[in-house]
Amino acid sequence: MRERWVWIVAVASGVLVVLLAWTFAKLQNPTDAVGLEVAAPSLPKLDAALVQAGHRVYQAQGCALCHAVAGEGNPRLPLDGVADRLDAQGLRNWALATGPAATALSARAVRMKESYQELPEADLQALVVWLQTLRRGESAR
Ligand code: HEC
Repeated sequence: MRERWVWIVAVASGVLVVLLAWTFAKLQNPTDAVGLEVAAPSLPKLDAALVQAGHRVYQAQGCALCHAVAGEGNPRLPLDGVADRLDAQGLRNWALATGPAATALSARAVRMKESYQELPEADLQALVVWLQTLRRGESAR
């Protein structure tokens, strides 16, 4: 009978040690929960792949001839913080010279921006998603 208790206590201690080790490992490395919070501050969740694709469209279309982001490009028309002022539709209108932006822009800007209207819709949507990341204090990736 006595040996039986010793055996039970030994097994129980073993299980306890494994559980403690597992809990400790979780506490030491809580990347799942904390990592997500750091990556997405107060922004609506924007798909990272779309954001990247949108940035590539911006670069490929030469938007930086006239615009700057995070100090890169033409400093005359910085886009930093533009998403604080404009919603997705507004960003799209100003990027493409459509809607109210069509009459507000100079003829030269309209000529450039009109050509973007021919881009594939998927590229335009990605571009707008990327523009939405341009909030005050945020630099573009
Ligand atoms: C030929 C120069 C030129 C090019 C190239 C150009 N833009 Fe613009 N863009 C302008 C001008 C001019 C304005 C109006 C700025 C203003 O009124 O403050 C403007 C305004 C904007 C705005 C609104 C800015 C604000 O502060 O309200 C966005 C967004 C924008 N452009 C995005 C783009 C994107 C994206 C591209 C590339 C696909 C692009 N632009 C290419 C000249 C250009």
